[in-house]
Amino acid sequence: MRTILNGLMTGFTEEGEGPPLVFLHGFPLDRDIWMKQIRAFRSDWRVILPDLRGFGESEGTPGPVSMARLAEDVHDLLRHLGAGPAVLVGHSMGGYVALAFARAFPQALRGLVLVGTKAGADAPEAAVSRRAMAAKVEREGTAFLLKAMAAKMLAPGNRDETMTVSITSFMRPNRPEGLISALLGMAERPDARTWLADLHVPTLVLAGREDALIPIEEAGVLARGIPGAELQLLDRAGHLVAYEQPYAFNEALRLWADRLAPSASREAAVRMSA
Ligand code: MLT
Repeated sequence: MRTILNGLMTGFTEEGEGPPLVFLHGFPLDRDIWMKQIRAFRSDWRVILPDLRGFGESEGTPGPVSMARLAEDVHDLLRHLGAGPAVLVGHSMGGYVALAFARAFPQALRGLVLVGTKAGADAPEAAVSRRAMAAKVEREGTAFLLKAMAAKMLAPGNRDETMTVSITSFMRPNRPEGLISALLGMAERPDARTWLADLHVPTLVLAGREDALIPIEEAGVLARGIPGAELQLLDRAGHLVAYEQPYAFNEALRLWADRLAPSASREAAVRMSA
């Protein structure tokens, strides 16, 4: 589906009925990466998957795009769809956006799920290499970046040809301009550790134990920093935990999220036993 928001074409998928469950993709992916979640959740939830600004079918804007701006885009989309308080699931860069959303729009949140992500800003040297990467994408296009990232996204045991090819095919359609804006935006994102203690929303932190891009210690930082947050680490999964281990990921998410909004099947069981 597509709609115009703030003058920009915005791509998204919406399936199912129930409380909103919103998935935010990471870099350099788009909403298609969540396809294994749509099928699992659309019977009990209103599953909403935006393409973040500059990715997939969503139009970009020149220059850095801040995580706060991306969070506003998500908020605008939810308002446009009339979707009430949502459970927001953010993977990696999507997690940076989810943290910005939680800070700016706590009233629009039912729950927060942070997947393979972290709270801290880029260290100065990391920000420098991100900007250098943006300049290289501008000069050479995206092929080098996709190749480098595809290998690191997966746990070593999942790096077979089929998985690597499919990950690359998810990344390939993204346009250089969108990737450049996001790289520059990530390089200047603020340190979310400063507001973790102010988040009063049920939170689940999930990560693959073999994440080669964001060390799992970062998941611990998030879980310790957000009051009451729960932490789950999944085996045989890397950075793309939801794609690599969809069954375990979906189970973990469902068990946790059902406490916030019981599933249709649980409601039926409750009705039958009443
Ligand atoms: C992502 O998967 O979104 C990126 O690895 C995040 C990052 O580069 O910091």
